[in-house]
Amino acid sequence: MSKISVIGAGNVGSTVANVLAHKDLVNEVVLLDLKGDMAKGKALDSWQQAPIDYYSTKLMGTDDYKDTAGSDIVVITAGIPRKPGMSRDDLIATNAKIVVSVTKSILEHTPNPIIIVVSNPLDVMTYAAFKSSGLDASRVFGMAGILDTARYRAFLSTELGVSPKDIQAVLMGGHGDTMVPLPRYTTVAGIPVTEMISDEALEAIVQRTKKGGGELVKLMGTSAWYAPGAAAAQMVESIVRDENRIFPCCARLTGEYGLDDMYLGVPVKLGKEGITEILELKLNDDEKALLKNSANHVTEVMDTFKAMNLL
Ligand code: NAI
Ligand code: 2OP
Repeated sequence: MSKISVIGAGNVGSTVANVLAHKDLVNEVVLLDLKGDMAKGKALDSWQQAPIDYYSTKLMGTDDYKDTAGSDIVVITAGIPRKPGMSRDDLIATNAKIVVSVTKSILEHTPNPIIIVVSNPLDVMTYAAFKSSGLDASRVFGMAGILDTARYRAFLSTELGVSPKDIQAVLMGGHGDTMVPLPRYTTVAGIPVTEMISDEALEAIVQRTKKGGGELVKLMGTSAWYAPGAAAAQMVESIVRDENRIFPCCARLTGEYGLDDMYLGVPVKLGKEGITEILELKLNDDEKALLKNSANHVTEVMDTFKAMNLL
């Protein structure tokens, strides 16, 4: 693979482009935004970092979709972020139109890309990109689970006084306050986390994780970008290197976990063709109920999207 395009050169998009350049995975990263000069400036700034940080990936900024032609992967970050007091779902009226039009513009110049959606409300925006692209669902999916799991792992790392490198975890469900961190699938260097932390402390971390995005919005007045950008770049890396890494991603479900024709966070394998497998965990009744609750919430937001009649 040789070319990645990132749509939206704001906080998250420019971070994705910059992290990708540092990974030196591909020949070219194209950063596209309605604000073309800003995209050009950020791409130029990142390119001027190359002699310092030693990478060869070229970066270009643009507002013209012709420059995205022939992209292997497109990451969509275009759209407004939330402000304090807003939920991710409040963004739908603006972002649904943006995601549908961006997806159509991409497809005009690249017939069969892999699309990774980042714009919120994530699960429904990924569904919108899937429906408006006509691509196979294995090639259209969203980034949220890596970020949400990273927050959970970072909180656990601080609480336990261990390296974040040693914490592995699975988190499922929608990218919102109903997300489902799974302590039963969380280990610290192979040790079940439940052997290392009290139930109360673990529950507090689960609750903080669910509101992790909001915590940052309150602190900064806009949403996060370093961890989100790195998370999307990690998905790109697994695809470009055909690593088949297992990550929680927002994927289209067609019967898995008893859910149909909707996008939701589940563990998947990511390789050069996109999602090569959706893993079905043997959830217990409590976990199933939490996942169902999260799916119900995403369905409500999807109904709002469908009522917009954009497709
Ligand atoms: P931002 O405001 O910094 O950047 C968004 C960019 O999109 C702006 O530069 C804007 O000019 C551009 N844009 C708007 N409409 C466009 C269009 N039609 N075509 C091309 N570019 C367009 O926002 P930020 O912080 O980068 O967030 C972007 C999106 O990502 C938001 O919807 C945010 O909620 C979401 N997000 C999702 C995360 C996740 O885990 N899935 C994590 C963090 C943010
Ligand atoms: C986040 O979780 C707002 O979705 C964004 O940081």
